[in-house]
Amino acid sequence: MKRRHFITAASSTALASASFGLTTRSLAASTTSLTHQITAGLAQQKLGAEATADTRLWLYNSTSPGPLLRVKQHDRLTIDFANNLPEETTVHWHGIRIDNQMDGVPNLTQPPVQPKARFTYDFVVPDAGTYWFHAHVKGWKQMAKGLYGPLIVEGVDDPAVDHDFVWMIDDWRLDADWQIDTASLGSMHDWSHQGRLGNWLTVNGVSGLMQAVKPNSRVRLRLINAANARIFSLALNDPAILIATDGAPTRHMPVEQLTLAPAQRADLIIDIGDAGFKLEEISAGRPLPAGTLRPDAALGMAHTAKTTLKAPVLAPVPALNTARRIAVHMQGGAMGNLAEAMLDGEMLPLRDLALNHKKLWAFNQEVGSHAMWLAEAERNQLIALDVFNDTAWPHAMHLHGHHFWVTSPTGEPLHHGKRDTHLMQPGERASLVFIADNPGLWLFHCHMMEHHAAGMGAVIAVL
Ligand code: C2O
Ligand code: CU
Repeated sequence: MKRRHFITAASSTALASASFGLTTRSLAASTTSLTHQITAGLAQQKLGAEATADTRLWLYNSTSPGPLLRVKQHDRLTIDFANNLPEETTVHWHGIRIDNQMDGVPNLTQPPVQPKARFTYDFVVPDAGTYWFHAHVKGWKQMAKGLYGPLIVEGVDDPAVDHDFVWMIDDWRLDADWQIDTASLGSMHDWSHQGRLGNWLTVNGVSGLMQAVKPNSRVRLRLINAANARIFSLALNDPAILIATDGAPTRHMPVEQLTLAPAQRADLIIDIGDAGFKLEEISAGRPLPAGTLRPDAALGMAHTAKTTLKAPVLAPVPALNTARRIAVHMQGGAMGNLAEAMLDGEMLPLRDLALNHKKLWAFNQEVGSHAMWLAEAERNQLIALDVFNDTAWPHAMHLHGHHFWVTSPTGEPLHHGKRDTHLMQPGERASLVFIADNPGLWLFHCHMMEHHAAGMGAVIAVL
């Protein structure tokens, strides 16, 4: 087999199964408490029709992506989680305004789940939208091997559609035998530069996903970036309406191209025309087919009227004059200006940090960790994280347990609606504004998994 070059070589479009793995939703509509079994373990899967071998992966319930959890707003979810991996793990419910003890951050909100042990995650989903779950121990390895899945929360005001699909996008780094390139896990180059970039693009675990839809149907497409580090650039063949980002409603706008940083989500409403819908990934300049929706009369007629969508009611950004401001100076990495940083109370030169401790990034000249508190916030305090990306790299900054507004340092909105992950360009300054109404210890970190592991993550305590 020839070595594949992700994004520099076109992959052929494969016909993939239209169904999306498992649906674990209870059929009883009145049920508000749902129990699911999720097991993390070793499994294998073909990552596309071209694959000549199964890829050995670490998966939830032996499927990539993990089982689709589809619930209703305010439902209570009970997850009976079992760890069949050879090492400890946890599950984090990304973007959910969750009870802190259920947040799945090892040694911060729970002890890690040991091999052969179980843990019960039990929480209510307060907001409708597109979320996901993933391993939070050594994400740079466990997520690279496939430990993630989608969590969809339906709301009563969701627009009527004929189809509601989830597309989880990932780039895997495979070797010539279709196996995860494990030799490069933990590579210093990746950790100090952009993070681990893959060479094999999949949507829902296959390359060139193709799904059939009813002709002239209205589709809701929920995109989730599950990659370790790649910022996807997605090109649409026809404009679609963006209605939500990171699960939260945003001002409706037509889009033909989308940037989706690691962990970010985008919900689109697509009115299918004769040509269907095509999504291509173009982050390396050359378009690579990601997914296709192909009209198929055999599926019957579409029923949803293509009416103008009701504009969402978006809470305005609060005035920042009363906000508690917390400066977060992001530093480090290759080609950066960080000469030294604190680690466990000791100021060390970057070279020493890199070679002896595998730390490369810092907040406010301190290597971040689950033991580093950026701030203690009072309950219901208005907080502005004044973040300055003083590095040579983009970072996808994620706050647990809250959604935030993104504004300029002077308070002008940079995004309509709230997010839980904001992509910071090199040199960018942005304020992430939120009301600290969820008590507990919340991680704030870069979702480029290698950056997080190498020091770009710390805690905000909400008392
Ligand atoms: Cu999806 Cu702490 O991350
Ligand atoms: Cu980063």
